[in-house]
Amino acid sequence: MNRILLNPAEKSGGKPILDVIAQRRSCKAFTEEPLDIDQLSTLLWAAFGINSPDTGRRTTPSARNIQEVQVFVILEAGAYLYDPQANQLEPVTPGDFRALSAVQPDYQHTPLHLAYVADYSHLAVDDPMRVQLRNHSYSHAGFVGQNVYLYCASTGLGTCFVASFDETGLAKVLGLSTDQHLLYTQVVGHPAE
Ligand SMILES: Cc1cc2nc3c(=O)[nH]c(=O)nc-3n(C[C@H](O)[C@H](O)[C@H](O)COP(=O)(O)O)c2cc1C
Repeated sequence: MNRILLNPAEKSGGKPILDVIAQRRSCKAFTEEPLDIDQLSTLLWAAFGINSPDTGRRTTPSARNIQEVQVFVILEAGAYLYDPQANQLEPVTPGDFRALSAVQPDYQHTPLHLAYVADYSHLAVDDPMRVQLRNHSYSHAGFVGQNVYLYCASTGLGTCFVASFDETGLAKVLGLSTDQHLLYTQVVGHPAE
C-alpha cells in the first residue's frame, strides 16, 4: 500500500452556506462509485484540515486547541491516516475493513468510511485534560462530522454519521494503542437516488 498524495483543497466557492445548511441530510443508500481525488482532498480539508497555515489552526475547533482527533480513511484497498500537515494519507493496514467501520449492511460498499479517533498519547498520564477530554472529544468529532455533512450538501455527495461500528475489531486493524479511543465513524459516497 502506497502513501496517497492529496491535491490542494478547494478553499473557496460552493453554494451559499444557508443553502447548504438547508440541504444537509443523512444519506442511507449509496452507489459504489468512489470519490475522485479532488473530492477526497477537499472533504478531508473541510473535515479537519489546516485553514491558517501560519498558526496551524484547523477547519474545526477543539477545546484549548488541543487538536487530538485523528481522521482515519477507510477505503476498499485499506486503512490510511490523514496527515493534514503533509496533505497526504499514510498507509496503516491493507484490506477492506468497511464491515468494521460500519456494521449496517447498507454501508458495506459505501466507498469512503472515516473513523474519528481521540489520541491522548501526547498527554502525561496524570494530565487532568485526559479526563476533561473524554467529554470534549465527542464534541470535537461532531464538529468534524458536521463539516463533512456541509461539504457533502454543497457538492451533492451523501454522508451519514455512524455510531454502529465494531469498536474492538476496528481498533485492532487501525493499530490503536490504549491512548487512542474510537469516537464515531462516518460514511460518504454518491447518493443512490
Ligand atoms: C451520534 C450519531 C450517531 C448516529 N449513528 C448512526 C448509525 O449508526 N447508523 C445510521 O444509519 N445513522 C446514524 N446516525 C444518523 C441519524 O440516523 C440521522 O442523523 C437522523 O436520522 C436524522 O436524520 P438527518 O441527519 O437526515 O437529519 C447517527 C447520527 C448521530 C448524530
